[in-house]
Amino acid sequence: MELQFSRHRRLRTSANMRALVRETHLHAEDFIYPLFIIEGENIKNEVPSMPGVYQLSMDLLGEEIDDIVSLGIKSVILFGVPSTKDECGSGAYHDHGIVQVATRFIKERHPEMIVVADTCLCEYTSHGHCGVVEGDRVLNDPSLELLVQTAVSQAKAGADIIAPSNMMDGFVAAIRAGLDEAGFQEVPIMSYAVKYSSAFYGPFRDAADSTPQFGDRKTYQMDPANRIEAMREAESDVLEGADFLIVKPGLPYLDIVRDVKNNFNLPVVVYNVSGEYAMVKGAAQNGWIDEKAVVLEMLTGMKRAGADLIITYFAKDAARWLKEQK
Ligand code: PBG
Repeated sequence: MELQFSRHRRLRTSANMRALVRETHLHAEDFIYPLFIIEGENIKNEVPSMPGVYQLSMDLLGEEIDDIVSLGIKSVILFGVPSTKDECGSGAYHDHGIVQVATRFIKERHPEMIVVADTCLCEYTSHGHCGVVEGDRVLNDPSLELLVQTAVSQAKAGADIIAPSNMMDGFVAAIRAGLDEAGFQEVPIMSYAVKYSSAFYGPFRDAADSTPQFGDRKTYQMDPANRIEAMREAESDVLEGADFLIVKPGLPYLDIVRDVKNNFNLPVVVYNVSGEYAMVKGAAQNGWIDEKAVVLEMLTGMKRAGADLIITYFAKDAARWLKEQK
């Protein structure tokens, strides 16, 4: 009896054959590396829930940036850990705020490095919310004014890309108008267009000291159960003038990444968030998984799902591994 079937294994017979037909490739320039800059001197605090990730003070930033550049990574995203906080998060939009100072420093040392500034208030507010609080409510429109001030001060400091992550309605429109008015027409907005209210942000809140002091972020971040709503969020950001669309978190939301990729013609960015990092690190430290293989597979999966860029705490490790494989 003659069987009819396809011989898929023909294209898997050797490493070189597999390389010939590989559809998705990772490069160091796909990655955006997050940095937590803390006010103070000579501080290098490892974040307990994120082994290998540090809160770094400005005086130690030079070496770190040199290392990042030498690995072929072209972009970093900055988060500030200020020494004091207040009700309205003034550290976020102060000309000498920690992110503004760090941005100037990085652009001076490595002018070609793309500095992305995360535009949010939660690291700077005493209540830990991403906007202005009245009673137990986070007010939308008054928050926009402070976010515009933050974005403009970040652009003034030399940030190449503004990345608003606060999830207030209209943040792209407001920030675009504010940047244009201040003469920063050329500075793009990388919008956290689709940001879910996720338990996977836990370790980040340790790193950035940004846990809300009351309530949660469910009135502004999205319900993890929703898919159609993600399209509405992305659509409004495109109309308001976003230049990149972020989907966040990554791993549990790769269906949304594909939806965004298929429906909008902008670069798609996946945020491989802190909880995803912590899970892999924890398992690897226990010897339960092969860290390098798992990380490269995970990042490849994100690109296959439609990501053009990946914000990831694994950027340095992955860039090093990719270099070794060459
Ligand atoms: C600020 C912000 C958060 C993250 C990035 N920007 C925290 C949050 O929304 O609570 C999380 C990133 C991560 O978990 O790696 N709003």
